Amino acid sequence: MALLRCIPQSSTYLPKIRGFRMHGTKAAASVVEEHISRAEREDEEYADVDWDNLGFSLVRTDYMFATKSSSDGNFDQGYLSRYGNIELNPAAGILNYGQGLIEGLKAYRGEDGRVLLFRPDLNAMRMKMGAERMCMHSPSVQHFIEGVKQTVLANRRWVPPPGKGSLYLRPLLFGSGASLGVAAAPEYTFLVFGSPVQNYFKEGTAALNLYVEEVVPRAYLGGTGGVKAISNYGPVLEAMRRAKSRGFSDVLYLDAETGKNIEEVSASNIFLVKGNTIVTPATNGTILGGITRKSVIEIALDLGYKVEERSVAVEELKDAREVFCTGTATGVASVGSITFQNTRTEYKVGDALVTQQLRSILVGIQTGSIQDTKDWVLEIA
Ligand code: COI
Repeated sequence: MALLRCIPQSSTYLPKIRGFRMHGTKAAASVVEEHISRAEREDEEYADVDWDNLGFSLVRTDYMFATKSSSDGNFDQGYLSRYGNIELNPAAGILNYGQGLIEGLKAYRGEDGRVLLFRPDLNAMRMKMGAERMCMHSPSVQHFIEGVKQTVLANRRWVPPPGKGSLYLRPLLFGSGASLGVAAAPEYTFLVFGSPVQNYFKEGTAALNLYVEEVVPRAYLGGTGGVKAISNYGPVLEAMRRAKSRGFSDVLYLDAETGKNIEEVSASNIFLVKGNTIVTPATNGTILGGITRKSVIEIALDLGYKVEERSVAVEELKDAREVFCTGTATGVASVGSITFQNTRTEYKVGDALVTQQLRSILVGIQTGSIQDTKDWVLEIA
């Protein structure tokens, strides 16, 4: 598969720059080298971005990382290339049979200038688990982290200043080999790109208003709801569009089997706070094992809260004092109301609440202002 537009792949020139390799012509590579060393020279050069008005839309950065598997399932070392379009065989597994997984993680710039990744090993392991479910080759945990690191380092000027957001990394794994019949693709591509982001929802940091969807489920037992398959997202767009057209922020889905239990929001997990107890749907195969979800649970337990991972009946929404959503893109987002069958239940929002306490500890660890005693943070620059 020819991935490169700006840097031809044919060349064997492989300069080693700041610990990573690049494919490309000598000329193209020296442009890259010049660019990076210039950024280094000027201490910290930032890209030309309106950092105060970042949302969650794609901002085109400089480089992306890619590697392909061969028939034995091993991936080549990989290389950085200019961010741009990719070329695919029309019979590629991703296009015909949906063999694809996404991941999401963030690089933060701390007040001290360090650039930090949050628990990238968990993203790597989740991608491996998803790849097994989807019969795909996957890169090793080390290779995954290496690809992410290279992407961040090459796009360092796109990591927002402290407090202005993060560089969202989107690792993709997809069947790039051709197959006409329904079969696992013979070749896979692992690709990482990034975009600077701030708040996921247009509401910014204001509380979300969710709508409980009763017709379209997000996942079903035996399906792929528990892994980050690309095919988990397209089917819920219609429910999201309906909810958003009625002024809601997002959709809360019910389980496909009984329609009685809450599952998750389109791109985030959900938590209910009831006194000293925090409740969230258990990861039974239909719920995505979110990394923010897992981290928030660990922080809550450390703080002495009781955490229950179990089936959560939709009726329980009435009994919660606070509700919040978690996700890499979402962060820890307060929910102000949930509407179910024309009844709107409102929740406490604001400072001095459990949601805020959990959010500030998590963000503190992610950005390096709270000491990382759990070895969650990987310093890459
Ligand atoms: C993330 O939180 O990183 C996600 O993958 C959600 C995304 C689909 C926007």
